[in-house]
Amino acid sequence: MHPVEPFRIKMVEPIRLVEHEQRQAAMRLAGYNLFALRAEDVFIDLLTDSGTGAMSQAQWGAMLEGDESYAGARSFYHLADVMQKIFGFEHFVPTHQGRAAENILCAVLMKPGGYVPSNMHFDTTEANIRARGGRPENLVIEEAFHPTLQHPFKGNMDVSKLRLFIERIGSQNIPFGALTVTNNAGGGQPVSMENIRSVSEVYHEYGIPFFIDACRYAENAYFIKLREPGYAVKSTLEIAHEMFSLADGAFMSAKKDALVNIGGFLAMRDGDLYQKVCNELILREGFPTYGGLAGRDLDAIAVGLVEGLDEAYLAYRLSQTAYLAQKLLDANIPIIEPSGGHAIYVDAGHLLPHIPHGEFPGQALAAELYLQGGIRSVEIGSVMFAHEDPDSHEMLYPELELVRLAIPRRVYTQSHMDYVASVLGELGEKKETLRGYRITYSPPLLRHFTAHFEPL
Ligand code: F0G
Repeated sequence: MHPVEPFRIKMVEPIRLVEHEQRQAAMRLAGYNLFALRAEDVFIDLLTDSGTGAMSQAQWGAMLEGDESYAGARSFYHLADVMQKIFGFEHFVPTHQGRAAENILCAVLMKPGGYVPSNMHFDTTEANIRARGGRPENLVIEEAFHPTLQHPFKGNMDVSKLRLFIERIGSQNIPFGALTVTNNAGGGQPVSMENIRSVSEVYHEYGIPFFIDACRYAENAYFIKLREPGYAVKSTLEIAHEMFSLADGAFMSAKKDALVNIGGFLAMRDGDLYQKVCNELILREGFPTYGGLAGRDLDAIAVGLVEGLDEAYLAYRLSQTAYLAQKLLDANIPIIEPSGGHAIYVDAGHLLPHIPHGEFPGQALAAELYLQGGIRSVEIGSVMFAHEDPDSHEMLYPELELVRLAIPRRVYTQSHMDYVASVLGELGEKKETLRGYRITYSPPLLRHFTAHFEPL
């Protein structure tokens, strides 16, 4: 049976679908960039699952007891206790969100010309590496590039490619290695424990520190419980603990699986690294016991981390995503299969074969989804990832042109999902009428956030 929401709604936030003409005007004003819309002009907001979740009564209660002392606040120690139970790293610092943790890590470890391998880096991780003169390298398994190919752990890293890469580049040129769980840029796909263990062994064989990008570690842990032999009997807490026991550190945006609206952390085993991190943190974020957050935020994260591992919640969470996926498949909308944890990734390149990479099929689909149904999604394709090769100056396009429908945690109900599926289904029936876009303004890094477009 479909797991029913393991909560009831105590407070509501009204939403409304504005008229079609108003949606058209809003898009023109936004330069056809969905990030530039006013949220009030959006009906169902699937832009991101990051910081958009609903906190529980326990989290709101804990916030009232936040300790706002500058140093050594009680709230920090609440979080430290939970961090120890779940992640088990010797040291951690809070940060205001995930990319701040990435920035600190890159500031202390990265040297120009260094390489950082991962299964797939997320855009902010890539940008933080590039901003320090480094080069991100994505080594996800080949199966990840075949949207309809069934594989239980499509987020896995290709371990033999990793070994070859290290041999070619030289371990001295790799300041740290990463692994993103679940693999957001590749469809929210999980990574198996077996793969985490093999990746850890290879990194460690070459003396490379191993950091997990842990944003969606709880969803990953539940996928391991469901799909990996031997893990059905283990709790998600035990699974999470085992995952992190294989790493030297982790960086996390708490805005995902810690069920809060803001926050993050950088955790590590190495005491010398921790000292350097603290110095950088004080410069950029704040004192190590608050790191750019209010004390009450630390309490909300401490409670949210525990709730995020709750198995009744995770069963509901993953099945809500699977429910929307099935509805879309029934409506002949191509998506990455099997569905991932936090989002559905529509294969816009496949749906709109008449729009080439350079005219942004994902952008075309995302814009139309808003114009037709007031639904906000995000392009994860050439707008986000196409870039010039620094050596050959050739334009490099990503293999997949995707549109992500990210599902905020504990926010939308099944009938919201039904609405999304019906709008997308109707759009699929007239897909030939969609046209591409041209970029009229683009910043040097992370252009998808602020670029302007024009319909062709
Ligand atoms: N790593 C991954 C895998 C992410 O998905 C994100 C954020 C970050 C790092 C950075 O965290 O936003 O707190 O600074 N992903 C959001 C998303 C923005 O929509 O997927 P942040």
